[in-house]
Amino acid sequence: MFCACHLADRLGDLMTHRRFLFVLGSSRTDGNTELLARRAAEQLPPDVEQQWISLAEHPLPDFVDLRRDSDHVHPPTGTTPALLLDATLAATDVVIASPLYWYSLSGLTKRYLDYWSGWLRTPGLDFKAAMAGRTLWGVAALADHEPSVADPLAGTLNNSAAYLGMRFGGVLLGNGSRRGDVLNDEDALTRAKSFFTREAPLARFPHEAGGA
Ligand SMILES: Cc1cc2nc3c(=O)[nH]c(=O)nc-3n(C[C@H](O)[C@H](O)[C@H](O)COP(=O)(O)O)c2cc1C
Repeated sequence: MFCACHLADRLGDLMTHRRFLFVLGSSRTDGNTELLARRAAEQLPPDVEQQWISLAEHPLPDFVDLRRDSDHVHPPTGTTPALLLDATLAATDVVIASPLYWYSLSGLTKRYLDYWSGWLRTPGLDFKAAMAGRTLWGVAALADHEPSVADPLAGTLNNSAAYLGMRFGGVLLGNGSRRGDVLNDEDALTRAKSFFTREAPLARFPHEAGGA
């Protein structure tokens, strides 16, 4: 379990090492989103650490909003929340790899983000300060051939990054319906090669940035 007393050590470490956490949000194994994320990750230099966590294999319990009169809550117990909290805090870069479900994030992925709300209010954690300056990325497979239908997913990630003072590297989209289809999307595979080299500016809400 993460201890706030290690935050200074960890931050010092983060200055020098890039650590990518890939959070896989598909409800099936070996899906298009993971395939595309792995293609992008292949291009990362060998000294960049990678951690991959499948939310289907590590299901989080339903998120419960425990705020009452106080804005502070105790963190949920259990091995999966602890695993994900530790992994999130250890990452310089968090990659949300979620298929497009109903034009947005999958339920498994959304639940992981809901846990961020709990961590934001966990005494001694200072999750917001810890996440500020880190980078959020998105990878998503979708059946539709029109990329703009994924705007709600991209907006959720952009705004979440903006709320936390994070950088946002955008979303790598790939087309596919059946497992493996994305490997036929040559444009997506080409974009994957350079995806993690792109600029990841500090995220801004659309009203701050003067447009999406
Ligand atoms: C519950 C569910 C909802 C979906 N909603 C959409 C959608 O809104 N738009 C779309 O283009 N594809 C949608 N799809 C198709 C998936 O995005 C597509 O099959 C994708 O390749 C799945 O990624 P995966 O292989 O990583 O699981 C949906 C699929 C499921 C199972």
